Amino acid sequence: MFSYEEIKQIRNQFPILKTNETNSIYFDNAATTQKPVQVINTIKKYYCNFNSNVNRSVHFLDNFTNNYLELSRKQLKYFINAKYREEIIFTTGTTESINLIAFCISKFIKKSDDIIISHSEHHSNIIPWQVLSQNNKANLKVIPVNSEGELNIRVFKKLMTKKTKLISISHVTNTFGILNPINKIIKTAHKHNSLVLIDGSQAISHITIDVQNLDCDFYVFSIHKMYGPTGLGILYGKKKVLDKFPPYKCGGGMIEKVNFKKTRFSGLPFKLEAGTPNIAGIIGTNKALQLLVNYSIIKINSYETKLLKYAIKILSNINGMKIYYNNSKLTKILSFNIENIHSFDLGKLLNNYGIAVRTGTHCAQPIMEYLKINGTIRISFAMYNTIEEIDIFYKYLIKCLDILR
Ligand code: ALA
Repeated sequence: MFSYEEIKQIRNQFPILKTNETNSIYFDNAATTQKPVQVINTIKKYYCNFNSNVNRSVHFLDNFTNNYLELSRKQLKYFINAKYREEIIFTTGTTESINLIAFCISKFIKKSDDIIISHSEHHSNIIPWQVLSQNNKANLKVIPVNSEGELNIRVFKKLMTKKTKLISISHVTNTFGILNPINKIIKTAHKHNSLVLIDGSQAISHITIDVQNLDCDFYVFSIHKMYGPTGLGILYGKKKVLDKFPPYKCGGGMIEKVNFKKTRFSGLPFKLEAGTPNIAGIIGTNKALQLLVNYSIIKINSYETKLLKYAIKILSNINGMKIYYNNSKLTKILSFNIENIHSFDLGKLLNNYGIAVRTGTHCAQPIMEYLKINGTIRISFAMYNTIEEIDIFYKYLIKCLDILR
């Protein structure tokens, strides 16, 4: 838990929280988090002082930049406790990480094989598998959710057979913030020799991740959801699995030897990183990691849980309030609807009072269709949010409801 002084100190590191003229409240952290000054300054310093490409030249700037880039890779390895540096692949985001895996794994998926996802996935963890299944004539199977929004593990176990080649599941759902029982899923999957991919986008800045302990085959996330820059994602994959992957994109940086007869590809991680990477973003990531490590994910989690519980308590007093789902498995995301009010109208009105929330289907139409709703209002917390902000949000929410009802 953070002290009052610590929260003040944290908030001071985020320029947008100080400079925002409308004094707005940012509760859309599941979409992207704000950036601390040390990330912004590091990116600026890279462009001002040592801009260069990596791994291409012998000059001092290239060497310097390359060292910084590889330092970030090393820090990311420690951050999620990967075994090898080669298991950390830079991509453009979670979406690309999942697409990369789907592309590379496609040559191992045969007709009538099964791929399993859940009903609660983000579109980026549905469509790549749908396309792959259609192309390879494989089956896409879906784990249903129960009335508490949790995965139906009984059905999941029944879906698992020796035909199951891959399970791809979110660690925390982006719609309702439900923590999925990934330990159980990974153990069950491995008993059936299936690979497991965990989409950690909504978990990475809130839960301590230890990929060796989890024993997942892949863990993917976006840096912009953990106080780092946009346009950068991570694909963690077990070395023995990634070693079997064909290249995903072809170009500079991923080869050892090229002639017109044959090309010999580099080893990991470069085999999967063709082209100039997002160097500035990767270097800036280092500072985002430092922030999370300095304040400790455990402390951040307990502080955000306090915010979430407080928000649930006061929102529950509102007539016609439906919170999805008010149970102990929720992490820092709170999704709700209010009877006879469209999420879009409420979101727009809250915006007039300087409050940023997300409305709609949150890139997860199948679960909304299943619940027969056209969306929700979603608030999501980060380490810099406060109880006072929730009180202000509540005050304006009541005001909006007076207008809309
Ligand atoms: N995937 C992000 C969200 O859920 C954009 O808002």
